[in-house]
Amino acid sequence: MSGADADTRLDPPLEFGMFGSAAHRDRLDFSAWPSSKFWEAEYSPEMARQYRAANRVRFPGPLALPGWVFCDLFVLPAAIGVVTGPADLLDDEMRGALQVTSPERAIMAAYYAAPTLTPGVFVGVSLISLLSGRGLGRVVKSMTLQTLGASVQRGVAQWSNWSLRSHAKIGPMRLVGRVPSGHALEHKSFVYEIDLRREQFHPEANLRVPVDDLEALGGLLDRGRAHGDVFIVSPGFDGHYVHLFVEK
Ligand SMILES: CC(C)(COP(=O)(O)OP(=O)(O)OC[C@H]1O[C@@H](n2cnc3c(N)ncnc32)[C@H](O)[C@@H]1OP(=O)(O)O)[C@@H](O)C(=O)NCCC(=O)NCCS
Repeated sequence: MSGADADTRLDPPLEFGMFGSAAHRDRLDFSAWPSSKFWEAEYSPEMARQYRAANRVRFPGPLALPGWVFCDLFVLPAAIGVVTGPADLLDDEMRGALQVTSPERAIMAAYYAAPTLTPGVFVGVSLISLLSGRGLGRVVKSMTLQTLGASVQRGVAQWSNWSLRSHAKIGPMRLVGRVPSGHALEHKSFVYEIDLRREQFHPEANLRVPVDDLEALGGLLDRGRAHGDVFIVSPGFDGHYVHLFVEK
């Protein structure tokens, strides 16, 4: 993997680990961070409770993660990557939401990517960070994908989501096409892929499109689907424009 391991490290007291069914422990490659922890989902009710609370903070209301999806589709088929740290790094509101007190360790960020029918291809499902301003979203995503042995990460994103900044730092996001029907944010979302085996390239954007110009962005999505030559590149999104690289 080239894209996901670039500039990926955690300074103590932050730690990385994975949380999933005991059956997956030996499938995970922790060699790049051997002191990482593995929590067996069957015997870690506190981690499950905290993860679900953390997920609810970042995906509230109708987006809240149902318990059966967490169990059947997250931790039974695979494992969730988590960054933990002392709870007092979080603000009062976050500590309250997680129901943790200062001396405890708490989840600071987490990423779940689901395995697919194609070996090595994972679909990014849920990226959260409770400790803003440290780029932990990118770090937990990179570490998780590397530990899973992912070669390609596919995902759905919205043109105006700040998470594009985190995704695009991992690698160029090739535009794959429109999202399958039924997605709640279908009209402003797209499917992308990051090839994690690709030699790292950081091209300068050669096209910037206003984020509210959904017609132009839709046209680029169709071009990307047909030719595979349109990428979102870092910084990805700046509040006004989506930054793209179109291969000539
Ligand atoms: C996406 C997410 C995980 C990123 O968390 P993070 O790594 O802690 O993010 P940071 O606070 O370090 O911000 C990352 C970048 O976005 C920028 N950013 C984030 N929110 C911003 C805002 N409201 N205004 C301006 N810039 C913003 C930061 O300045 C930073 O920029 P940089 O690339 O120059 O460093 C987090 O915002 C989150 O939990 N979002 C809600 C869930 C979600 O939408 N997930 C993604 C889809 S699954």
